[in-house]
Amino acid sequence: MLFDVERVRKDFPILNQRVHGNPLVYLDNAATSQKPRVVLEAMKRYYETVNSNVHRGVHYLSEQATADYEHARTKVQRFINAPHVHEVVFVRGTTEGINLVAQSYGRKNVEKGDEVLISGLEHHSNIVPWQILCDEKGARLRIVPINDSGEIVLEEYEKLLNNKTKIVSLGHVSNALGTVNPIKRMIATAHRFGIPVLIDGAQGVPHMKVDVQDLNADFYVFSGHKMFGPTGIGILYGKTEFLDAMPPFQGGGDMIKSVTFEKTVYNDLPYKFEAGTPNIEGAIGMGAAIDYLHEFDWNSVSAYEADLLSYATDSVSVVKKLRLVGTAAEKAGVLSFVIDGVHPHDVGTILDREGIAIRTGHHCAQPVMQRFGVPATARASFAFYNMKSEVDTLVKALYKVNEVFG
Ligand code: ALA
Repeated sequence: MLFDVERVRKDFPILNQRVHGNPLVYLDNAATSQKPRVVLEAMKRYYETVNSNVHRGVHYLSEQATADYEHARTKVQRFINAPHVHEVVFVRGTTEGINLVAQSYGRKNVEKGDEVLISGLEHHSNIVPWQILCDEKGARLRIVPINDSGEIVLEEYEKLLNNKTKIVSLGHVSNALGTVNPIKRMIATAHRFGIPVLIDGAQGVPHMKVDVQDLNADFYVFSGHKMFGPTGIGILYGKTEFLDAMPPFQGGGDMIKSVTFEKTVYNDLPYKFEAGTPNIEGAIGMGAAIDYLHEFDWNSVSAYEADLLSYATDSVSVVKKLRLVGTAAEKAGVLSFVIDGVHPHDVGTILDREGIAIRTGHHCAQPVMQRFGVPATARASFAFYNMKSEVDTLVKALYKVNEVFG
């Protein structure tokens, strides 16, 4: 079945507007994606008909809200093919998921002299939580280098794994460069050393089918808002054996079975990790986004996106003085570039006047920028509702940038 982009775009009301007098060309999807109408309606319906707190009331609305919230969890379970629904923990987003693992699993298992291994491609949210942990424990954060194309150097990865490594934490897809890492292979390699692996899937789930059992990931975290759902909701998937043995991350309501001043008995999974009133409408919105994504044939979506990215890569390559940053063989969704002699923020500002939204800056991945010797890049990032005609608009605007800067 061919992917019908025109039909898909009708599902996203925000796309049909003009910015500075021009049709909006939204190419900032790695920062946040747009939301289909079904997601917006699901959240509105929740507030208009169900709104109530979960896991607390015996009254009708509370039971309804609890059922909807838990139903969303089973949708996530199916979406990533998690073996058990209690392995799906609602968090605020990818960042909170990684902090949860660093503070809970990490503080329990990482000691002085131990090592935590990440790659040179990581977003700050997969660097800083581990730095905090390593500083506290006197452990060492080690970094797998990347090559000039922006790919992890696998031989170096294998060399860095050793009996002091307590956890490996890797991005699935680089937000700054678009590199798709060979995570299945990298997880298998770490497992040969008996080391668990966390995958930051924030930029993975919007572009590809993720099966945590096939990957054999020990932890997989992602955000609702990058996969066409709302902000403020995300998922930590963790294998039962790890989550069970981990202490709570935050204390409060809902994460307990009983409390006395002497002793608290923690709740079962996943509630042990969900202190306080959760983001109920966020979970429901995320469930609606998953239902929406289920309607697609993902082979067609992937083929469409790959073709769009390759068209965009070829099209921008003819722009004078433009240099791509990140040319990995396997990429998804992201085109990062610099134009010699023009600051990326100026590129972004000129594009904005044409109605084109891109992100410029370090993309919360400063070490990646340092690796490529640039302070910042301009980044166009794609979703399946983007079109080749939008790439053409981007290229025309980039010509304009060169005209302005001579
Ligand atoms: N992590 C998001 C990005 O890459 C915000 O833009």
